[in-house]
Amino acid sequence: MIQIGLFGYGCVGRGLYKALQQTPQLNATIKKIVVKNKLKPRDINHELFAYDKEEILNDREINLVIELIDDADGAFKILTVALQNGKPVISANKKMLANHLEEILLLQKKYNLPVLYEAAVAGSIPIIRSIEEYYNIDTITHINGILNGTTNYILTQCFKEAKTFETALKEAQLKGFAESNPTMDIEAFDPTFKLILLLAHAFGVVVKPEDVLNFGITQLTLFDIQFAKEKKQTIKLIAQAYQTDKGIAAYVLPKFIGEQHPLYNIHEEFNAVEINGSFNDNQLLKGKGAGGFPTAAAVLADIFALSNQYRYPYLKQQLKPVNFINNDHLLKIYVRYATDEQFEAFHFHQILARYDGNAYRYAIGYITIKQLIQAKLNQGKGAFVAEIEETPIQINSGVKIPIKNKLPAVESIH
Ligand code: HSE
Repeated sequence: MIQIGLFGYGCVGRGLYKALQQTPQLNATIKKIVVKNKLKPRDINHELFAYDKEEILNDREINLVIELIDDADGAFKILTVALQNGKPVISANKKMLANHLEEILLLQKKYNLPVLYEAAVAGSIPIIRSIEEYYNIDTITHINGILNGTTNYILTQCFKEAKTFETALKEAQLKGFAESNPTMDIEAFDPTFKLILLLAHAFGVVVKPEDVLNFGITQLTLFDIQFAKEKKQTIKLIAQAYQTDKGIAAYVLPKFIGEQHPLYNIHEEFNAVEINGSFNDNQLLKGKGAGGFPTAAAVLADIFALSNQYRYPYLKQQLKPVNFINNDHLLKIYVRYATDEQFEAFHFHQILARYDGNAYRYAIGYITIKQLIQAKLNQGKGAFVAEIEETPIQINSGVKIPIKNKLPAVESIH
C-alpha cells in the first residue's frame, strides 16, 4: 500500500486527491496533507490536514512524499529531508527542480532513492519518461515546444478572439493555469525551468536558469499581432533546444510561425512538444499543459511508476559540461523597440531590415544568443523580441518595409 504525504492543496493537489479516489487500482492513499493556511475552508475531511511539515516527514507509515507547493525554497527543503528520511519524492515544482537539479541528482545517489517529476514539464504530456524510455535510443537532434499553458492561452485569446492581454491573463488565472506570481509565466521563466529539465534528460546538460536566454510576451502589442497576421503567421512562445555544430542552442522566445509549423495549431492551455531524432524524423506530442486534472494525471503516472521501482535510467549517466551549450549561435530576430538606446542594446550581428515610424520602430536581423542575453540585462528588456523562421518572412536586405499605411495605429493591448 502506498501511503502518501501530500504537501500543498492547490489546483493540482485537489486534482490529485479527486483523481486518486477514482483510481483504486493504484493502491495509493493520501494519509496526510500539509498546508500553510489554517483558516482556509477545505472541501474535504479536515482531519487529513496538518500544518507542520514534520507530521509528514517524520511519519514512518508515509512511504511517498508528493510535493505540490508553490514555494521553491520550501519545496527543496522538503525534498531533501524526505530523501534523508528514506522517502521517495514526486514533485511538480519546476522552479525548484531547475534551480537544484545537480544537487537533486547527488541526493538521489546518496540516499539511493528516486525523485520523479513528470508533472513539472508540459502538464499531462508524458515527455520526460518518453525521452528517457523511448527517444534516447535514437539521437535527439531538436526539441521544440510550447511549454506554458498560461501564455499559450493568452496568445490564443489575443490572436483569435481579439481580447486584451489583461483580460486573457485574468481568465488564465481564474482557470487555474497561471502561477501564483504570473510574471513567471508571462516573462517566460516557467517554460525556461521546464526547458532546463528537458535539456538535462534529452541532451545531458545541466544549466542554471539565469544562463538560459528567455524573453516573454509582456511587451507584445497590437502592432506585433498585425505584423504576424499580415504574413499569415501567428506568434507562439516556444522553448527550443537543438544541436548545432558547436554544441546545444537552448532558449525560450516568442516566435513568428506559419501555418505549416507543427505548433501553429496548438491553442488555449494546450502544450505540445516536437521531437526530432536521427531516425524518428519528426514527432509531435500534444496535451493539456496546465490545470488540476491534467497535471494530476502526470503525478498519477509517477505514482504508478514508483510502485514499479522506476527511476530515470538515462539522466545520471550522461551529464555533459555546461560549455556544451552554444551561446554564439546566431538567431534571426525581430526586435520592436521604443528608443535608440533600446535598439543599440541588441548589437545586431547583421541587420536585414529596419523600420522607423512614429508609432513603432523595429529591426530584423541576426543576433547571437549571448548578445540577446546581454541585451535583456541592459536596455533591451523593454523591447518585444521574437524569433523569425528562416524562410517564410521575405525581407529584402536593408530595405525599409513600407507597411506603415496598411496598419492601424499601434495601441498597447495591455
Ligand atoms: N503556470 C503553468 C503554465 C502551470 O501555465 O503552464 C503548469 O506548469
